[in-house]
Amino acid sequence: MGTIAADAIRTIQDNSRGGFTVPTKGLYPYQWNWDSAFTALGIATYDVDRAWIEIESLVAGQWPSGMIPHILFRADEPSYFPGPSVWGASRGPIPSSGISQPPVLASVVFALSRTDPDRARALVPALNKWHDWWARARDPDGLGVVAVTHPWESGRDNLPDWDRPGKRIDVSGVGEYTRRDTSLVDAGMRPGKEDYDRYLALVNFGREMDWDDARIAAGSPFFVADVATTAILLRSERDLLRLSESLGGPAEEIRARIECMERGFGRLWNERAGAYCSHDLRSGELSDEVTSASFLCFYAGIFDRRAEVLGTLERISKSVKRLVPSCDPGSPSFDPVRYWRGPVWAIVNYMISLGLREAGELGWADRIREDTRALIREGGFAEYYSPLDGRACGGRDFSWTAAIWLAWGLGD
Ligand code: DGY
Repeated sequence: MGTIAADAIRTIQDNSRGGFTVPTKGLYPYQWNWDSAFTALGIATYDVDRAWIEIESLVAGQWPSGMIPHILFRADEPSYFPGPSVWGASRGPIPSSGISQPPVLASVVFALSRTDPDRARALVPALNKWHDWWARARDPDGLGVVAVTHPWESGRDNLPDWDRPGKRIDVSGVGEYTRRDTSLVDAGMRPGKEDYDRYLALVNFGREMDWDDARIAAGSPFFVADVATTAILLRSERDLLRLSESLGGPAEEIRARIECMERGFGRLWNERAGAYCSHDLRSGELSDEVTSASFLCFYAGIFDRRAEVLGTLERISKSVKRLVPSCDPGSPSFDPVRYWRGPVWAIVNYMISLGLREAGELGWADRIREDTRALIREGGFAEYYSPLDGRACGGRDFSWTAAIWLAWGLGD
């Protein structure tokens, strides 16, 4: 085995805490939902049993409502803020946050299902319950697009999309607090103080609602239909349907949810921007920000706007060295190194490229794969990279970046 693949395995193993893997030491010392799912894909290339354990340990945190939390707090780690006592979310079997994260897990289970159909079958009811939760709790009006109730729920914390909806959040009660992230990573690469105040205000709001989904859907100042979460859920639903059809499961129920989302996805289309954009369900406003999420339409199996979406990708490709920037470099909000305001993320590239390949757009699919390979070769398993010069940014020794190297077969 070559050195990069061996390093990738070592990185993931160093981040393993027994039955689960942390995203990276220090900055993220617990089990994160979509990190764990992507990491399982990488683990499966060298230890299938351990990959299933990763998935099962995440599902073990499922709440009775069906929600699978975004963080499972399996041990007390003072290096992280806000920890379990700030969240005050006690509805699940394991201490956790009170929100979810993009539901990529069913697609991962589908990808691994051939290695152990029995273990895959055993997970179908929990995955179905989680997807049903997304439909009920985050799309109560049956629009066919799912909302995030916190920027952290999108997994893409400081996206420019959240700036305008975020203005409605009252931060007056937040008070003093000490961030931990900025003592571990350059503050210029992390969300700003204004963002963080809003994050904490929303955690306080959820705790005051006792993390009751209906109260949050009715009263949260932040309820924004997210392109990436919707696209990822739609693909996961399709993969869950395939699992249900071959292994047994509630296929009819899943089909009905897919049809609803297929009808609803077009709501996110923004003609002015030539892109799928997030939709603030409180104000009714469609964002004009073009983010990498827009290119996930193919991953979701939506091909309606192929020419326009590819035109936008072409335009953006001219202003960066490496695709795909999380935010359009033409936007005033663009920042090449600040977290989700511009940097390239390997997991997003993986999903975008997979979708482009399925759409038959092999040139673009290969370009994005090659860019990802170059970024990792040159910068190591960073959290993310600058699209302008490829500089490695954020945390280092990241599980999901290492996992993408392995799962995508980027090199030995
Ligand atoms: C953080 O703490 O920065 C995380 O992104 C929350 O999920």
